[in-house]
Amino acid sequence: MLNCLQSWPEPVIRVQHLSDSGIRVIPDRYVKKPSDRPIFDLDPSSEIDIPVIDMRGLYSDDESIRRKTAGMIDGACREWGFFQVVNHGVSHEVMARTREVWREFFELPLEEKQKYANSPSTYEGELGAEYSKQVVELCGKLMKIFSTNLGLKEEYLEEAFGGEELGACMRVNYYPKCPQPDLTLGLSPHSDPGGMTILFPDENVSGLQVRHADNWVTVKPIPNAFIVNLGDQLQVLSNANYKSVEHRVIVNSEKERVSLALFYNPKGDMVIKPAEQLVTAEQPPLYRPTTYDQYRLYMRMKGPSGKSQVESLKST
Ligand code: OGA
Ligand code: NI
Repeated sequence: MLNCLQSWPEPVIRVQHLSDSGIRVIPDRYVKKPSDRPIFDLDPSSEIDIPVIDMRGLYSDDESIRRKTAGMIDGACREWGFFQVVNHGVSHEVMARTREVWREFFELPLEEKQKYANSPSTYEGELGAEYSKQVVELCGKLMKIFSTNLGLKEEYLEEAFGGEELGACMRVNYYPKCPQPDLTLGLSPHSDPGGMTILFPDENVSGLQVRHADNWVTVKPIPNAFIVNLGDQLQVLSNANYKSVEHRVIVNSEKERVSLALFYNPKGDMVIKPAEQLVTAEQPPLYRPTTYDQYRLYMRMKGPSGKSQVESLKST
């Protein structure tokens, strides 16, 4: 399940090698044009943050709390496309150990790392399997809530993704220290192509920024929480009631950062299209049916490119 290689134009391990070599000036190819560079906010305490959802509320004995929690998730999906979840059911111990294993991996000498470069899951082994099993269960819970929030039957989205055969894969992101963080980005603006992403960020180092009302909002990670974000396939299935949102990563000169991203995606040959119940005379289907395999090719060719990919599916 974890054997997915997603190619990105930013080759992480080689950048780490550069960083370890102690360079003071970053190579030209990493220098962004001025309008794409991050702005380091002088007063981070004044910033708004993405919604935080306590998932215990979904299982409360009190029906009004269950409804309120589902409503908060719906609001977060519509307004932000991003939220953090606490009391999500994934073992905190498994989370911590999994992150530690990956941190150690990135501390290995370059040659050792390269041995695993095409199959990091081998290194991660059973612990990784346990981590992803629990996170995929969390995805299932959220998909059920999204379905009912959209007025679809509870199983709708999971079935649209291929049921038991859905695609899920994990990518571990390592952002080394950077001597000139104001000139570059750790990850360029993009929306995630798949269904939903469950990100376990580095709780000591923030870096993820979410586009909201034309600003870049820096997410402040909460210990043991996950950051959930909607991908392009949910935008298509929901006929744009929900939208995938652009995000990017900034780096810093003091601390490296490790994040674990689990991508919950449709099985490659499932045809993804707006749910019929969400298509009406007033709201015609906004996107052309496409399999996820076809969709993914675009990303491979173009790399992170904001939201141009899902835009290209528009049925005029
Ligand atoms: C991603 C991503 C953010 C992060 O992997 O798609 O957006 O904080 N990662 O590492
Ligand atoms: Ni992303």
